Amino acid sequence: MKAKAKANTNIALIKYWGKRDEKLFLPTNSSISITLDKFYTITTVEFKENMINDKFYLNGKESDKKEQIKISNFLDKVRKLARTNLYAIVESENKVPTAAGFASSASGFAALAAASVKALGLKLNKIELSALARCGSGSASRSIYGGYVEWQKGQRLDGKDSFARRLLPESDWDISILSVIVADNKKKVSSREGMKRTVESSPFYSAWLDTIEKDLKMTREAIKYKDFEKLGEVVERNALKMHATMLGAAEPILYFKAGTMDVIHHIHDLRLSGIPAYFTIDAGPNVKVLCKPSDEKKVYESLLSLPLVEDIIICHPGNGISYL
Ligand code: ADP
Ligand code: DP6
Repeated sequence: MKAKAKANTNIALIKYWGKRDEKLFLPTNSSISITLDKFYTITTVEFKENMINDKFYLNGKESDKKEQIKISNFLDKVRKLARTNLYAIVESENKVPTAAGFASSASGFAALAAASVKALGLKLNKIELSALARCGSGSASRSIYGGYVEWQKGQRLDGKDSFARRLLPESDWDISILSVIVADNKKKVSSREGMKRTVESSPFYSAWLDTIEKDLKMTREAIKYKDFEKLGEVVERNALKMHATMLGAAEPILYFKAGTMDVIHHIHDLRLSGIPAYFTIDAGPNVKVLCKPSDEKKVYESLLSLPLVEDIIICHPGNGISYL
């Protein structure tokens, strides 16, 4: 009753920002992402007799109570599906900074969903697995698949139509995604808390919802026709719009650091000099820069020369979950 799975993180091109149902992790809007090849989680789950609760070890250390509860709540859903009441030992390694805006929750819960389902011998298809991973962290629903992925928000109250699907395999369109690290300490406001506060208090949130369908349509088209400039434009605007909604929240949420601003301006300068590079930023200070593989070296070197840039990891579209 033991299984091991690997899931890559994903970076949202069109962001998931806001829930219509917090318990079921149902989003107010659909979102689109690219699964990355360099950041991932490997999780082993073993269900055992004679245990009195679940145990969760992250990067070799037993996690605190709050984190244990999150894992146990998720495993309760898997136990219900498998009609068992066995507890589990969960050992997870994040090859991605935790809670620093690198989507560790996406790879974390996708790997946990895949490993726990396999350990209990459940036969779920990808859509069912995506809907299950969603119940640990919304963005995890997208990490089940490789390449370009859309999580459709769904309409149903029970969430059965809220799952992700692949739009394009990773091998069909290579682009470079540079993960530019300007700070990798743990953020003060989690994505979960940040989106909740925004939905409840930001006057700009309605404008986010009014324009999201247009952004989604443009992104689907850009992916379908592999139109890099069109993709970059909409992705950058969507990220800034999401951060604008947070600035209107009470209390306001500001994830940007000085290094974040430097990278933003640098990307605008690169574009003025004729290099098509665009950025996106999740709930954290670090920036992901999208460029064509042919410009990757130039963009990498110029970003690395910025004094506040600590490191850059070059990623490309990666694959979906795998079992080890
Ligand atoms: P991030 O930017 O890293 O996604 P979030 O605040 O959205 O930050 O999510 C971080 C949370 O994700 C952690 O506090 C933890 O609850 C969960 N998480 C991170 N890594 C794992 C993992 N390997 N397995 C299960 N849950 C994880
Ligand atoms: C800004 O999926 O981490 O990265 O569902 O509450 O766990 P929960 O939130 P999470 O939020 C991700 C927010 C984002 C945008 C995105 O990945 O789409």
